[in-house]
Amino acid sequence: MLGANLVPHLLAQGHEVAAHGRSGSGYAHADLTDASAAFKLIGDCLPDVVINLAGLTDVDRCQNFPQQAWWANVRVTENVAAACAQSGCHLVHISSDQVYDGTPANAEDQARPGNVYAITKYAGELAAKMTSATILRSNFFGVSQHAVRRSLSDWLYASLTQGQAIKVFDDVFFSPLSMRTLCKHIHQLAILRPIGTFNLGSREGKSKADFAFAFAQTLNLPDHLLTRISISQAQGLAAWRPRNMCLNNAKIESVLGQAMPTLALEIELASNDYRVTT
Ligand SMILES: NC(=O)c1ccc[n+]([C@@H]2O[C@H](COP(=O)([O-])OP(=O)(O)OC[C@H]3O[C@@H](n4cnc5c(N)ncnc54)[C@H](OP(=O)(O)O)[C@@H]3O)[C@@H](O)[C@H]2O)c1
Repeated sequence: MLGANLVPHLLAQGHEVAAHGRSGSGYAHADLTDASAAFKLIGDCLPDVVINLAGLTDVDRCQNFPQQAWWANVRVTENVAAACAQSGCHLVHISSDQVYDGTPANAEDQARPGNVYAITKYAGELAAKMTSATILRSNFFGVSQHAVRRSLSDWLYASLTQGQAIKVFDDVFFSPLSMRTLCKHIHQLAILRPIGTFNLGSREGKSKADFAFAFAQTLNLPDHLLTRISISQAQGLAAWRPRNMCLNNAKIESVLGQAMPTLALEIELASNDYRVTT
């Protein structure tokens, strides 16, 4: 999903982009659990920067199939990082806000991964450090350009425009960026290439419920279809979820020399894209 938004953004900035996918059409293809495939892919095009978005992102699937999670989130990163180290290119690796559980505050040295997805994303970060890497812990929303994958806001938008009642969590807090802003900063960081681990989110995060209400109100969608519940009332979740993933952005703000936008502003920005698609 993020790749389908990032590739057009980088092309529009004038970069030459060699996009890779495991499946789908029009891209270079490889299963990156195969080290030789990762070395060939990176060795063939000798990029200045590799941006690694590959992973198994379904949190409950990771919990039910931990070996698959390990292969996708750790082994793939080991292979990509080793290939980057050999070819001398910089790695920008995308991790997740799920590595935090919110106690006491989510600065970079306070990761406490609490489910299989988070543990494998954290282990993936350690693997990325074998080379010159910018590791970004983030979360995002907005109009997905992917044919199938849908973001949280895509789900909200589709549900509310189709008149479907949905439940939203009142006690899970996060601070995602719109994909538009995230792609802009990934681009900047691919040029600056700071080494280390950085949070990259919005300021003044919200509960998922407040996010849903703000999104609905900005787009004039029927917010009476939203019901606030506690995540403890949710059924069918295989994995434990962190309650507070709001990111402390002080470190990345000093690298970028600018304050991150508020989540309210990011909702406004992403809403413009939904207005355009209707
Ligand atoms: N989505 C979110 O809200 C979110 C939030 C925080 C962080 N992130 C992180 O951001 C990154 C991008 O997320 P996304 O939502 O854009 O993910 P996505 O849509 O699930 O895409 C992940 C990609 O990884 C590929 N992949 C998986 N295993 C692979 C393998 N063995 N070899 C090669 N490719 C493989 C998948 O290929 P197939 O299509 O063939 O499966 C897919 O194209 C991930 O690292 C994720 O952990 C995502």
